[in-house]
Amino acid sequence: MASILVVGGTGLVGSVVVRAARARGHEVRSISREIPASSSPRFVPDVDYRACDLYHATQHQLGENLQGVDIVIDCLNGVSHVAQAVFRVGAAQITDAAAQSSVSRIVVVSDVGCDQSDFAYYEAKTDQEAVYLDSAVPTTVVRFTVVFEQLWSIAQSAARFRVIPTSERAQLQPIDVAEIAEVIVDAVGDAGPDEIRSYGGPEIASVRALSQQWLAHTGRRAVLVPVPLVFAIGRYLRSGVNIVPESRRGRTTWQEWMNRTAPPQVPTSTCGPSPAPNGHEPSAA
Ligand SMILES: NC(=O)c1ccc[n+]([C@@H]2O[C@H](COP(=O)([O-])OP(=O)(O)OC[C@H]3O[C@@H](n4cnc5c(N)ncnc54)[C@H](OP(=O)(O)O)[C@@H]3O)[C@@H](O)[C@H]2O)c1
Repeated sequence: MASILVVGGTGLVGSVVVRAARARGHEVRSISREIPASSSPRFVPDVDYRACDLYHATQHQLGENLQGVDIVIDCLNGVSHVAQAVFRVGAAQITDAAAQSSVSRIVVVSDVGCDQSDFAYYEAKTDQEAVYLDSAVPTTVVRFTVVFEQLWSIAQSAARFRVIPTSERAQLQPIDVAEIAEVIVDAVGDAGPDEIRSYGGPEIASVRALSQQWLAHTGRRAVLVPVPLVFAIGRYLRSGVNIVPESRRGRTTWQEWMNRTAPPQVPTSTCGPSPAPNGHEPSAA
């Protein structure tokens, strides 16, 4: 069993990675700015939660957090443009401290096709990957496609205005966060040189088809408005580098996940909120 530090172990992806690692008997520590309350759905028992802001932590503090750690799994995120600096800063902080510690491998979670996009978020992710891949510590990058909770949040946010921007041409390959978490924890056992792997879910469908399924499932009413695939995010989706048809992982489809996580509600209002599965609040992709 390994001693693992999950950076961002309280986030959407990180909290599920923490749970999967604990279920396999690993010793798990998590750092994030806030520590979850024991009543939070993201709290996992027997995890050593520590508060640490990667922007401001000293190397001494990071050294303490890395004490006795074999593997680091980086599940950080920065949603706003300014917050995205955390990818580069955090990676530099972690690699500097890891080089002085017992850490034998770093696993970084990332996004499919990020290195082929000029969307600012993906450029920041590519910078983050590069800092790790250029470091002295062997690194595995696990890139994956959008997770179902994120897709739900995006649809829910848009539906508040009763308009969901869609595209027949843009395709997604959403994945179950619990299924990708198992793949991420598998990488703890990697021993070879640096590696980048990409995974998507079992099913590929257009944004329009996925939105229609969400509307049918939730009973919400919204107009599906076709939008042109413009700007950096449009180019990313149009090019198809956001999906990996040859690398499907997991078995859960969007419909199965919705049935399991957010069973259909009897609609009481056409504009009231649908429940957010797993306590996940809407955020930008
Ligand atoms: N969500 C998806 O659909 C998806 C798909 C593919 C890949 N990914 C990858 O997964 C990663 C994580 O995404 P997510 O959706 O899990 O994000 P998230 O829910 O926003 O979680 C981000 C985590 O980072 C922590 N964090 C943020 N700033 C920090 C700082 N300055 N110092 C220390 N901790 C900090 C947060 O805790 P505090 O706020 O308490 O600090 C939280 O634990 C992303 O980088 C992305 O590349 C996500």
